[in-house]
Amino acid sequence: MTTSETMATSAWSPRRLYALNDAEIAELAAVLIDCVAGGASVSFMHPLSHDRAVAFWRRVAQGVVAGERVLLVAEDVDGLCGTVQVVLDQPENQPHRADLTKLLVHRRARRQGLGAALMGAAETTARACGKTLLVLDAVSDGDGARLYERLGWQRVGEIPGYALMPQGGLIATTVYYRNLGG
Ligand SMILES: CC(C)(COP(=O)(O)OP(=O)(O)OC[C@H]1O[C@@H](n2cnc3c(N)ncnc32)[C@H](O)[C@@H]1OP(=O)(O)O)[C@@H](O)C(=O)NCCC(=O)NCCS
Repeated sequence: MTTSETMATSAWSPRRLYALNDAEIAELAAVLIDCVAGGASVSFMHPLSHDRAVAFWRRVAQGVVAGERVLLVAEDVDGLCGTVQVVLDQPENQPHRADLTKLLVHRRARRQGLGAALMGAAETTARACGKTLLVLDAVSDGDGARLYERLGWQRVGEIPGYALMPQGGLIATTVYYRNLGG
């Protein structure tokens, strides 16, 4: 099996990585650091060090190799600039469900349809993996939430004070789902 597989979506071509090398981990770390520096609430506080970001992606890589999660990436001329994950590994009573997580687009590549392309590729991959229900959460009224609602995700509700913004200050999160069945 090759280490990657291309999935054409719009002008972007997200591809699936089945393993990560050091260069890919460094580029994904740069994407994560840029998102946190730009104010995205994606599990980390600002400033996020290169070492902590690399440690995060090394853990992700272990899950990818174990088949627990799918990692999709997209690149521009400067390297990897966008990514999203589909978490396949779920409790035994939820084999049809997956979580979508860590949709990240570097600020240099935003507002060019990459976020939408990654979401489309994630749904295609989830279907191919036998998943019929997707769940995610997003900062309420943020860029991600706007994207998910534009793409037709169903809004479940809001949890106030769910997380801290990277520079501090509590924010609410909104839970979404998408039914791929039918
Ligand atoms: C949320 C995020 C992934 C969106 O990525 P993106 O690549 O900018 O997404 P898209 O380009 O598909 O859509 C973003 C906007 O650009 C617009 N757009 C898309 N293609 C465009 C184009 N060719 N020209 C102009 N605008 C365009 C879209 O209509 C959308 O507009 P809106 O924000 O007014 O609704 C990105 O902002 C990000 O990484 N944020 C930080 C991390 C984060 O918050 N992730 C979500 C966690 S839940």
